[in-house]
Amino acid sequence: MKLSRSPQASATRALAAAVATLSAVPALSTPSADGDAAQAFRSACGPCHSINLGHRIGPSLVGIDGRVSGTAPGFDYSVAMKKAAIRWDAATLERFLAAPGAVAPGTKMAYPGLNDEARRRAIVGYITGLRFD
Ligand code: HEC
Repeated sequence: MKLSRSPQASATRALAAAVATLSAVPALSTPSADGDAAQAFRSACGPCHSINLGHRIGPSLVGIDGRVSGTAPGFDYSVAMKKAAIRWDAATLERFLAAPGAVAPGTKMAYPGLNDEARRRAIVGYITGLRFD
C-alpha cells in the first residue's frame, strides 16, 4: 500500500505554520494599564457582570462607586447582600473581592475571592471608573 499525503493533512500543517508565525509576531502596541485592568475584569468578572446597565448572573457594576450594596434597580439580590448595606468604594470593594463570603456572609456571588492584590486593585480601579454614559 502506498502512503499519500492527504490534502487535509497538508492544509492542517499550513494552518499550524500560519498560526505559529502569527503568535511569533510581537504585539503591535503595548496594552495600556487600563487595557490590562479591563482584560482582568473581563476574565474574572465578565461572565457574571456587565459594564452596561444590563444585569447578568450578577448585577451591573456601572455606578458601583458610592452605591450601597444590594440596591441596583431590577436585580434580585440575596437577603445577605441587601442586609450587608455596604457602601461600595475602593476600600470596601477590595475587601469584598478578597473574600466575598467573609464580607457579605450568605452572598450568592459564587466567587471564591481574588488573592492577587495587584489584580484586585486593578479591577477595583476599573469598576470604580465605570460611569453612566
Ligand atoms: C459566578 C458569577 C460571579 C462572578 C464570577 C463574580 N460575581 Fe460579583 N456578583 C455575582 C452575584 C450573583 C452577585 C449578587 C450577590 C448577592 O445578591 O448576594 C454579585 C455581586 C457583586 C457586587 C455587589 C454589587 C451590588 O450592587 O451590591 C460586586 C461589587 C461584585 N459582585 C463585583 C464582582 C467583581 C469585581 C468580580 C470579579 C473579580 C465578580 N463580582 C465576580 C456574581 C458573580
